[in-house]
Parts: sequence; C-alpha cells; structure tokens
Amino acid sequence: MKTIKRIGILTAGGDCPGLNAAIRGVGKAALGLHGIEIVGIRDGFLGLIENRTLSLAKSTLAGILTVGGTILGTSRVKPHRMEIKGRTRDVRDAIVRNCAKLRLDALVCIGGGGTHKNALRLVEKGLQIITLPKTIDNDVEMTDTTFGFDTALGIATEAIDRLHSTAHSHHRIIMAEVMGHRAGWLTLGAGIAGGADVILIPEIPYDVEKIALAIRRRSQHGTNFSIVAVAEGAMSRDDAVRFQTVRARKAAAKNQETVLKAKAELADLDRQHAGNTLRLASQLETLTGLECRVSILGYVQRGGAPSAGDRLLATRLGTACAELIHEGVFGVMVAARGDSAQPVPIKDVAGKRKNVPMDHPWVRSARAVGTCLGD
Ligand code: F6P
Repeated sequence: MKTIKRIGILTAGGDCPGLNAAIRGVGKAALGLHGIEIVGIRDGFLGLIENRTLSLAKSTLAGILTVGGTILGTSRVKPHRMEIKGRTRDVRDAIVRNCAKLRLDALVCIGGGGTHKNALRLVEKGLQIITLPKTIDNDVEMTDTTFGFDTALGIATEAIDRLHSTAHSHHRIIMAEVMGHRAGWLTLGAGIAGGADVILIPEIPYDVEKIALAIRRRSQHGTNFSIVAVAEGAMSRDDAVRFQTVRARKAAAKNQETVLKAKAELADLDRQHAGNTLRLASQLETLTGLECRVSILGYVQRGGAPSAGDRLLATRLGTACAELIHEGVFGVMVAARGDSAQPVPIKDVAGKRKNVPMDHPWVRSARAVGTCLGD
C-alpha cells in the first residue's frame, strides 16, 4: 500500500453548519497525528477542474470550528455533466489527471446525496475517495444522522416557537415552511419539538379536507389558532400520484430517451409544485374561515454557526476520516453509527435517500400527542 502523504478536501452541494468543523477535524488530525499534507479544493468539484486550491496549513484551520458555511466554497456541479462554454461535457478524466498534477494521493468529499453520486463516479475512474455525510435534510443513507441537521433543527424549532404567540394573538393559522424537498426529517423534528398542530412531510401525502377538519375541531374546542409545519416538498395525494406515475415510468424505462423524457416531466412537475405552501394556505382559509399566513424559513435554516451537537459530530467524523485515510481505507463514507464512526461503502449510499419511515418513533409520537399529519 502506497503511503498517503498529501490529500485534497472539498465541500459540495448545498452548504450547512458544521462543514468547517469537519474540514478542521480532518485537517488537524491528518496533519498533527499522521503528517499528511492537506490541500483545500475551492467550490466543490469545480475547483478540481479549474485547479483552484487553498493550502490548509495549521494556521488556516485555526478558528474555523464555530464558523458557518464553508471556507472552501461549494457548488452543485456534476463531473460527468459539466456545463463549459454552453456545452455539457464529461470531465472525469480531466479531474483524475488534475489530481495527479496536484500530487493528491486521495480526496475527501464532504456532501449529501448528489455528492455521493459524484464521488462514486470518480471512484469508478480510479480515484481514492473518502466521504463525510452533511446536509440539513438528514437524508443520507447508512448513517444515523448528518451534520448540519441539528443546527437547522434548532433554528426551525425556535421559529415555530415564535409563531405560536402571534398566531394565538390574531386567531390565525400560521404555516411555517421548512426546507426539505424530498425528505421530511427537519419538518417532522421541528414540528414535534415546536408543538405544531399540523405537520406535513413529503413522505405522507395530505388530504386538505383532513387538515381543515383538524383545525376546525380545535376551533370548536375554543382554540382558534393553529400552527402548521410544512415541508417544501409536502404534497397533496393527487400531486403525489402524478409524481409516482412518472417516477414509475422512469424506473421501468428501457431506453435513454424514455429516461430523459421522464426526467423532463419530473422537472416540470417540480416547477408546477413551487408555491404549493401559499396555495395550501389559501385553501385552508376557505375551508376553515380563519385567516392564514405563511412564514417561509428558507436559507436562515442553513446559515450561521453550527450547534454544539454539529460541532461534535463533524469533529468526530472528521477525525475518524483522517484515521481511515492513514490506514488506506477508501471508497467509503464515514458514517455515524451510535457512538462510533464506521466506514460504509460509497456504492451503498450513492443514489439512495433516507426517508422518514411510516412507523418511525417520531411519526408515532406525533400522532400520539394528537398532531394531524394530513392523512
Ligand atoms: O441542503 C439541502 C437543501 O437545503 C434542501 O432542503 C433545499 O431544498 C435545497 O437544499 C435548496 O438549496 P439550493 O437553493 O442551494 O439549491
């Protein structure tokens, strides 16, 4: 086995709190314990094709533990389909050559679902890669949790807490739209912790009549305000059927043309779905006779300093990552499993999403305290 002397590190996909804590964890342990030099790659996979790097000396790694975002920058580019001068190109071979030019023995990729797919595509080209799971959505497979989630959960919960007094004072329905297009962990967690009366997540398609009934029942019992925590990706039963039909067609497709057609249809459905929370608010006004307001929490959930929990998780996984690099373990994601950090094959993570199971304890608890989940 070749001794690892120099590694690259990048952050890709949407940013989240804890990325810098992870960079620091990997960097300090790699340098301090194993004498491995560490090179920061700017703006995700884009920096690897444009050769934009940042030397991560000990002094650069100091003072970043508590800082939000990523000192390296990030992007959502895909190495197998990169837009260059108006043309889509597969730049994976160029990336492999650039890694050699930069004398990188291995690469650390910190990211969520998309990053794991991209990392696997580069592993298949022969690069030695190890990944770390981050995202406020908490939807990465094979890991108990991802860093970024705990901070966002705290922010969204506090926002819901604050909506109670104003909803109560004005006898209104207030909807808090929480991030999460495909997974409902953040909405469900913040909804339960913030005591929302209705929680709507992508995994449980809703019936608007049932939501209205739950709100009207509260009014009949003298509580004429309600808080609705709604994920960006929550959808009605009818919309869910539309998405499922196209997804099934895509899964069964026998040729690339049908796959591309289904992908375009899904993108179109996504566009039509934008603004769904506002439409639902207006439906609820009509059905309940109560005024309804919407607060879109948006990027506030992703910004700012990481929570203590995320700093701890990112440091735990980051330092374990340095240990695995030293041992020459690649092609894996460093997963959080109970108190330990364990390597799991990237191929078992890539292309999958961890959704909220219908029988998850959080779902059962929400129902047990009388929360309406829209079904
Ligand atoms: O990081 C994940 C996520 O926050 C999703 O919840 C959200 O839908 C998405 O990123 C939006 O990110 P962007 O606008 O940066 O693509």
